[in-house]
Amino acid sequence: MKFEGQHILSVAQFDRDSIQTIFNVADQMTPYAMRRKRTKVLDGAILGNLFFEASTRTRVSFGTAFNLLGGEVRETVGMSSSALAKGESLFDTARVLSGYSDIIAMRHPDSGSVAEFAQGSRVPVINGGDGANEHPTQALLDLYTINKEQQYGGGSIDGIHIAMIGDLKYGRTVHSLSRLLSLFNNVKFTLISPKELAMPDAILKDLDAAGHQVTITEQLEGSLDVDICYQTRIQEERFESQQEANKYRGKFRLNQSIYTKHFKSKTVIMHPLPRDSRADANELDNDLNMHPNLAIFRQTDNGVLVRMALFALTLGVEKLVSKYDTDVHWYSSKR
Ligand code: NCD
Repeated sequence: MKFEGQHILSVAQFDRDSIQTIFNVADQMTPYAMRRKRTKVLDGAILGNLFFEASTRTRVSFGTAFNLLGGEVRETVGMSSSALAKGESLFDTARVLSGYSDIIAMRHPDSGSVAEFAQGSRVPVINGGDGANEHPTQALLDLYTINKEQQYGGGSIDGIHIAMIGDLKYGRTVHSLSRLLSLFNNVKFTLISPKELAMPDAILKDLDAAGHQVTITEQLEGSLDVDICYQTRIQEERFESQQEANKYRGKFRLNQSIYTKHFKSKTVIMHPLPRDSRADANELDNDLNMHPNLAIFRQTDNGVLVRMALFALTLGVEKLVSKYDTDVHWYSSKR
């Protein structure tokens, strides 16, 4: 796949080779993210960071990734403070804002909105989440994390067994991650959710067509021989009513004793975050915070590397990053 000048809208754009390219470039970003070196390869470039839906880590890590490559970030946050609230079309907003930026990252509550926006843009657009549809950069950072965790244990992505738990209907991260995983060989999926929040049929069909083994259950039961346990949040903002969402709150908890009961000692715990830590939800308990297999903060750190890689590739500077680097003189606890 050619990256330069391309939009990143869906995981359907990727094959195994392009994923490997992203992983290789992400690995090369480590010294910059660890503050051992700095690079000015994107000096003068501007990222338009448009977030029309709530976000902390995706928005800030896109911005941080761009800054770490030496570029500047202009941010628009919230629908009500933008001209979309005055009835402007996504096409017009894109046409205008792409005149002010070299690349755009965008999140929006409607499925398909980022692709529609991209049609009006004169610069590459990266999808930071479009409604319940897709979240390609999260899926890439999740896959990058899975790969690293598997390599650490001497394994690989091929042949893994992953349990996905919670809101598989509205959770865009599990949609995109499932599709990326389906590019690998013999992946086993155990999908655990209430019937009403099950994985969409279209994705199940794709997994089936690619020959993967899929088990669907409504409860966490017995002992599961899984490598990865991927927990999710009930996406309450996508339900018709809060009352409807409340029915599922707290149904899928994970804490130390539940983990020990159902998972093997090597099972890696992942979550795209934010985790709902309210007492009546508590989907990923603080009593797992010090667990060595809890990979949630490794995921968030990896998000910067993967987003740096995507910026470098889409702006065509991936081979120039070290040419523009210098030493770092300040103290950093990350090194
Ligand atoms: C996820 C999202 O926004 O889809 N968060 C994220 O980007 N890391 C998951 C969620 O909000 O539950």
